[in-house]
Amino acid sequence: MLDEECVRQAAAMILESTQVVALTGAGISVESGIPDFRSPGGLWTKYDPLLYGTYESFINHPERFYEMAKELNPTLERAEPNPAHYALADLEKLGKCRAVITQNIDNLHQRAGSTDVLELHGTHRTGHCMRCRRIFDLEVIKELSKGGECVACCPEDGTAIKPDVVFFGEPLDSRVLARAAELASTSDLMLVIGCSLEVYPAAALPEYTKRRRGRLIFFNTVTTHHDRMADLICLGKAGENLPAVVEAYKELAGVK
Ligand code: APR
Repeated sequence: MLDEECVRQAAAMILESTQVVALTGAGISVESGIPDFRSPGGLWTKYDPLLYGTYESFINHPERFYEMAKELNPTLERAEPNPAHYALADLEKLGKCRAVITQNIDNLHQRAGSTDVLELHGTHRTGHCMRCRRIFDLEVIKELSKGGECVACCPEDGTAIKPDVVFFGEPLDSRVLARAAELASTSDLMLVIGCSLEVYPAAALPEYTKRRRGRLIFFNTVTTHHDRMADLICLGKAGENLPAVVEAYKELAGVK
């Protein structure tokens, strides 16, 4: 159920802001059919992240990741951008979203038309050999892993191919992180969408915006223990709230 007052306030905050940035998490892709991590039924409620999601677990037991990927890949392949992804691409076209900083690896922002997407936690679209660093596309990785039945290994040297997603305990791409911090520190409004803000350094980015006296709007289906930071909380599905906020903004701004 849309909270009309919240939608109106969010639209007004976007109108008043000149440097808007979005930070998205798994919650924005839930309506595309991709489970998030920490909600009931989320990925980490089925797979222990200490056994399946750390860099060390991949180095010692790559077969665990490929077992999890075998279940997840069809969901990622079937997923389509949802109205929340399109709403952010719309805001970019309206000059009201400088960039999307995402923790997601699903490429849905790009497919929805967002052109400046910072993938903090990498991408599922490629992987590389852990020895010779040769890069492989997802399709080739799927063939080499016989559809997820085994660990994909480099045809040159037989070493495991690591997907280009960031595991726990693995450093983020420093250039991407530096640019994300720069964007957060120079924005006067951050739209925080579908994020539990449990994982750093991504979870620190809203603080960067606050520190320069920027404002935060949280879009989530539940309250989080970070809510005290938010200037406005739009409770509900991102796929419903965000499009409504963009339409309300267009009306306020008198644009189509
Ligand atoms: N609309 C808006 N928010 C939603 C929706 C929805 N339809 N569905 C779920 N959410 C919210 C949940 O309430 C939760 O607060 O999205 C958030 C998702 O939180 P997580 O599952 O923790 O995902 P995320 O915040 O992206 O996790 C960060 O942790 O495991 C690592 O690398 C992984 O990038 C991930 C990081």
